[in-house]
Amino acid sequence: MGCFERLLRMNDRVCPWWLCYSFDNPLRRLIHDPERLLESYVKTGMTAVDIGCGMGYFTLGLARLVGPGGKVIAVDIQEEMFAALGRRARKAGLSDRIVLHRCLPDRLGVEEPADFVLAFWMAHEVRDKPRFFGEIFSLLKTGGRLLLIEPKFHVTRNSFGRTVEVCRAAGFRLLGGPAVALSRTVLMEKSGLACQNRIS
Ligand SMILES: C[S@@+](CC[C@H](N)C(=O)[O-])C[C@H]1O[C@@H](n2cnc3c(N)ncnc32)[C@H](O)[C@@H]1O
Repeated sequence: MGCFERLLRMNDRVCPWWLCYSFDNPLRRLIHDPERLLESYVKTGMTAVDIGCGMGYFTLGLARLVGPGGKVIAVDIQEEMFAALGRRARKAGLSDRIVLHRCLPDRLGVEEPADFVLAFWMAHEVRDKPRFFGEIFSLLKTGGRLLLIEPKFHVTRNSFGRTVEVCRAAGFRLLGGPAVALSRTVLMEKSGLACQNRIS
């Protein structure tokens, strides 16, 4: 087991807050530009949810895309993430449209209907995936989308395929996914048809 892998397995497989600095830094913009990646899915006035937001690398980009009339709910299980995220949001002048929400490992607890959910490099840390994706499916509006992105260095093709199957079983319709450096991706939709499929 490599050093990075060993670190990620600490703390019951959840990425420790201090490790976020290793990938959440200015150099990351060279390969992951939040606004360029998300602009096709996130429009002015939307409610977006950044699950496993960490220190907010994508939260700020989402906040710019939803604009002053929109909202971003930044969700994480680790309180330490919110201190850094709150500072960054204030510095960027975006605090007014970002809500910080600390969740439990086995319950997101987001009550507000959402147009878009991002789960970037976090789903492999979730133990009960059927419950997790079922809850995301419930909180999305009909027509709402989930963009799931997992790290290639940590999630095998087979493991990612199994996770995508869990999403399909939760009711999502698969739409394909964008190319993202170092990552496996899939875009999904909560369509009316998918809901019917799930019930029948
Ligand atoms: C590798 S970090 C990725 C952070 C961020 N998405 C990014 O790309 O910079 C994974 C994050 O997911 C969070 N996380 C892990 N399990 C979670 C769960 N069940 N619900 C919400 N967040 C979770 C961790 O606390 C951590 O902040």
